[in-house]
Amino acid sequence: KLKSAKSRKAVEMEIKAGSLMELKNIVADCKSCGLHATRKNTVFGSGSDKDKLVIIGEAPGADEDESGEPFVGRAGQLLTKMLSAIGIERDNVFICNVLKCRPPNNRDPLPEEIKNCSGYLDKQLELLKPNYILALGRIAAVRLLNKEATMKDLRENIHSYKGIPVIVTYHPSALLRNPNWKYPAWDDLKKLKELLDKAKG
Ligand code: URA
Repeated sequence: KLKSAKSRKAVEMEIKAGSLMELKNIVADCKSCGLHATRKNTVFGSGSDKDKLVIIGEAPGADEDESGEPFVGRAGQLLTKMLSAIGIERDNVFICNVLKCRPPNNRDPLPEEIKNCSGYLDKQLELLKPNYILALGRIAAVRLLNKEATMKDLRENIHSYKGIPVIVTYHPSALLRNPNWKYPAWDDLKKLKELLDKAKG
């Protein structure tokens, strides 16, 4: 109990960052959960706020842990292609994850790890102020929306995170495992594209 109160306190202190750079430095020093012991690098996220779109995945994998950059492995290459298919350049959006450290052997993030890392993602979104959020997979969507739901429910609706519209699609790693899902994922991307175009006017 004492331990979780302590880590909560750490996160509360950390979210006082006034800029992304400041927050990135705080994340780099984070030892709020056990994942710090096995990581090579924290993976804060990268990109820009140019298109006012933030894309959120689950957690760094081996390639990301190695490089400190999000979505640089196979799933990342597919994500880059998915974005370019709807005319979005990676550098114009901000890409990050629910967890900033790699879970060993790419296991699913534990609820406690998600909770510990939550302040960082919330603060990133507060600083970036996107007009839209694209959640990749159920873990990112459930974390943002704070409610359990099936992928079907999540994909069928446009949700809201603190008033910011959230579109949910399959995680690119899931698409690599189940190529049949690429068709429905394409529908999700078109929906996102329509929203972005409408916002541009
Ligand atoms: N999968 C994720 O969810 N995030 C990454 O950064 C890489 C793979």
